[in-house]
Amino acid sequence: MSGTISHMSTQLQDQQAAALRALDQAFDADALEAWRIEWLGTKGRVKGLMGGIKDVAKDERKAFGQELNTLKGALEAAFDQRQADTQATESSPMDVTEPGTGERAGRRHIITRTVDDMLDVFGRMGFTPVTGPELEDERHNFTALNVPAAHPAREPTDNFYLADGRMLRSQTSTVQIRVLDHTPPPVRIVAAGRVYRPDTHDATHYSMFHQVEGLYVDRNVTIVDLKSTLLAFAHAYFGPDAEVRMRPSFFPFTEPSAEVDMKMQIKGRWQWIELGGCGMVDPNVLSEVGIDPEVWTGFAFGLGVERIAMRRYGIGDIRWLFENDERFLRRF
Ligand code: FA5
Repeated sequence: MSGTISHMSTQLQDQQAAALRALDQAFDADALEAWRIEWLGTKGRVKGLMGGIKDVAKDERKAFGQELNTLKGALEAAFDQRQADTQATESSPMDVTEPGTGERAGRRHIITRTVDDMLDVFGRMGFTPVTGPELEDERHNFTALNVPAAHPAREPTDNFYLADGRMLRSQTSTVQIRVLDHTPPPVRIVAAGRVYRPDTHDATHYSMFHQVEGLYVDRNVTIVDLKSTLLAFAHAYFGPDAEVRMRPSFFPFTEPSAEVDMKMQIKGRWQWIELGGCGMVDPNVLSEVGIDPEVWTGFAFGLGVERIAMRRYGIGDIRWLFENDERFLRRF
């Protein structure tokens, strides 16, 4: 007699729903105990339903019994949960008279702010911000930048390579190629982003850091344009008394190349700080991207953002920037 079963099932479902509704209204220990006695007590409603088994047709009794057990289990579980919740609330009661703690607003990370400030200064000088991927291929990171296959900078121990031959970019100079591949000069861009090197962590080195790359390619660009651009940045960013110094150096993608130092005031004392590299775009790089080096010339620079932020905000250890310790972050 399946009709009887489904009738019973509906009846049990209704009972279960009624029980759970009542349980929802039990807000303290007394109300919970009253509910338990009414539904699960020795003379409770579930017991009563069990007593009704004898009225069920013989061949349906087993199924009915199983459904009753399921119902009983569900109510016991709901009761235990509700009891646990109530105890938790009672042991830590909310004191509505307690004054509020106030919310601390989040803010941009110090590195994000430094990047934005730098892009802002270069933007006012006519450099358009662009971005490039952090996951790169060797052509953009090395080959097109005039770094020959056997160059030590390409060593697996100095880079993060993937099994498929791609790599995490080690410098933002990759973006020079990304842009020049598709944009005919004149080009004036600035690119900020993360770069990765397996350097050992210490106070001034991290395995992930940020660079701001600048590139200007046009007719008759000279090293004077490079130096005056860096000087204009130093004045805008570090103040009118800041100075710029270029020390001869070597990068495969610039010729001549230089290290950039900026003289800035740190805790009242003027100091020269090395910030990055720069130079005139090597003719080989222009040829590689199909730009005639007889017609076009350019300069490029790459500055380390962490070093700049550390000086500007008096941060003694680069590692503090990435530990996300709120006591540190809140200082800025
Ligand atoms: C370069 O990465 C060149 N691509 C810069 C460049 C661009 C030259 C365009 C010419 C033309 P270098 O490896 O020196 O150069 O890194 C530039 C800056 O990144 C450094 O001066 C330093 O400020 C920062 N830097 C380098 N390694 C780390 C590190 N492990 N942790 C934090 N900052 C670093």
